[in-house]
Formats: sequence, C-alpha cells, structure tokens
Amino acid sequence: MAACGGGEATGPGPQVPAGPSASGSAAAVPTGSAGTAKPGPTGSGTAGTVPTPPVPGGMKTPSGSAMAEDLKKLGIDPLHPPPLSKLSPDVIRKLMPTFAKSLGVKCEACHDVNNFKASTPKKKVAAGMWQRFVVGLALEDGAPLYCDSCHGGKMEFLDTHDKKALSAWMDTNYVAKLKKVDKKDHSCDTCHGDPFDGKFLKAWETAK
Ligand code: HEC
Ligand code: HEC
Ligand code: HEC
Repeated sequence: MAACGGGEATGPGPQVPAGPSASGSAAAVPTGSAGTAKPGPTGSGTAGTVPTPPVPGGMKTPSGSAMAEDLKKLGIDPLHPPPLSKLSPDVIRKLMPTFAKSLGVKCEACHDVNNFKASTPKKKVAAGMWQRFVVGLALEDGAPLYCDSCHGGKMEFLDTHDKKALSAWMDTNYVAKLKKVDKKDHSCDTCHGDPFDGKFLKAWETAK
C-alpha cells in the first residue's frame, strides 16, 4: 500500500495544487511538457511542502470500486455487501487491508494496535460508513460502491472552506450520483438528516 499518512492528521488536505479536474487521483499529469515542475504527487511524503489550501480538485467524485475482485475473493458480493455483523472474524480481518488502502492509512489510524477489539471513534465511523454508505447506498451507474469509491486513498478529503461550493459539490456527487438501495428518496437528508447537521460524523464517533 502506498501513502504513509498514518495517524489522525487533521486533514493536510490534497497536496496537488492544480487540476480542478474532478477525481483527486493525484497523477493527472498532462503530457509532461516543459519543466515537470510539480513535486512528486505520490501520495506519501511531501505533506507540508506548500501551504496550499485544499482545493475542490482533491475531492473525489464517487466511482466504481477498484476492489470488487478483492471483495469477491472474500465471498462478498460487491453490489450487495452484507452488514459487518454477518461477516466472520476471519473475513473481517482479511477485509482490513481494503479499508487501509482505500483511506491511505495504516491500521493504527483506526485501531489501538495493542487491542484490535477496542472501540475507537474512527472504528465507529468506519463501521457506520460500511453500514450506511457501502450497504445502504449504491452508485447510480450500477458500479460497485466501496470505501475507495469515495475516499480514493485519503481519509480526509473534503474542502469545507467554502460551504456553498461544497454544497454544490455534494449535490452533484453525493446526491445525483448515488441512490438508496431501498429505492426511497435520496437527498442531503439521507446523510445529514433533517434538520441539516453538517458535522453528523461526530455523532457516529460515539453512537453504535
Ligand atoms: C478505517 C478504519 C480501519 C482501518 C484502517 C483498519 N481497521 Fe480493523 N476494523 C475496523 C472496524 C470498523 C472493525 C470492526 C468490524 C466489526 O464491527 O466487527 C475492525 C475490526 C478489526 C479486527 C477484528 C477485531 C474486532 O474489532 O472485532 C481486527 C483484528 C482488525 N480490524 C485488524 C486490522 C488491521 C490488521 C488493520 C490494518 C491492515 C486494520 N484493522 C485497519 C476499522 C479499521
Ligand atoms: C459515499 C462516499 C463514501 C463512502 C462509500 C465511504 N466514505 Fe468514509 N467518508 C466519506 C466522507 C465524505 C468523509 C468525510 C471526509 C472529510 O471530512 O474530509 C468520510 C470520513 C470517513 C472517516 C473519518 C475520517 C476522519 O478524519 O474522522 C472514516 C474512518 C471513513 N470515512 C472510513 C470509511 C470506510 C472504512 C469506508 C468503507 C467501508 C468508507 N469510509 C466509505 C465518504 C465516504
Ligand atoms: C452520501 C452522504 C452525503 C450526502 C447525500 C450529502 N453529504 Fe454533505 N457531507 C457528507 C459527509 C460524510 C460530510 C462530512 C461530515 C462531518 O465531517 O461530520 C459532509 C459535509 C458537508 C458539509 C460541510 C459541513 C461543515 O460544517 O463542515 C456541507 C456544507 C455539506 N456536506 C453539504 C451537503 C449538501 C447541501 C447536501 C445535499 C445537496 C449534501 N451535503 C449531501 C456526506 C453527504
């Protein structure tokens, strides 16, 4: 797996200064003409080189998972993943590298590595993401939705500086491109609730 970025790192955000071209895949290198310039966008290192504010280009448009085969090997149907509670401890353990890779983190980003069973806020959020997003939602285009579909190798990637711009981005990407598996109406409320809670993940950190 690439990317070091362990730990809790309060979003140093996308390190690629250019390219508002959707999907944050860092390597959107246009046929390297002149100077090559850009410092290696290889996910790791470089973290704090430039004080670039996060740019919308770093937010990943949800797209079909690249991990569908890994899931199938574990007996998980990528289009209809079951609740975590239905998976055996062995499968859960083998699933873990897909979490780490999707977020570009190591195990300790979510776990107390001296006690993997111990509850942590990040573990709770991850379990919520599985249940409410991976199980409860689907991509409009029918491709499998998984952690990597949205995270694209980063644990944190939202640019919350400009709430208006982010709201428009959410509408385009998280409302229009996704649907509920139960076919009920899908809107901001699906994730943010009504009344709108912009920081709903805080509640996931403690809830079960
Ligand atoms: C994004 C957060 C996240 C990352 C990264 C992660 N895990 Fe987990 N891990 C979880 C969650 C959530 C569960 C609990 C699943 C459940 O509810 O049964 C879990 C469960 C486990 C368990 C079973 C113990 C338990 O909680 O029931 C083991 C062992 C484990 N993880 C090991 C690892 C290892 C090794 C890595 C690194 C390769 C890793 N995890 C990376 C979130 C994470
Ligand atoms: C529909 C898109 C989507 C999917 C699918 C998704 N996530 Fe997330 N996740 C997000 C967004 C958006 C955030 C907030 C990121 C931010 O604040 O920059 C987030 C945040 C998180 C966080 C908390 C990060 C923090 O800093 O507190 C964890 C942990 C996480 N996701 C794990 C997962 C795991 C594990 C999966 C797969 C089981 C997953 N996510 C699937 C969109 C998604
Ligand atoms: C698929 C789930 C999902 C949908 C649908 C969704 N969002 Fe979000 N949104 C998130 C996540 C996850 C976060 C990060 C929440 C957190 O950090 O607690 C977030 C954060 C935000 C934030 C930043 C809030 C803050 O104070 O930092 C805004 C603004 C926002 N969303 C607007 C919207 C709007 C407007 C809609 C409907 C057009 C929408 N979102 C639909 C998942 C979603």
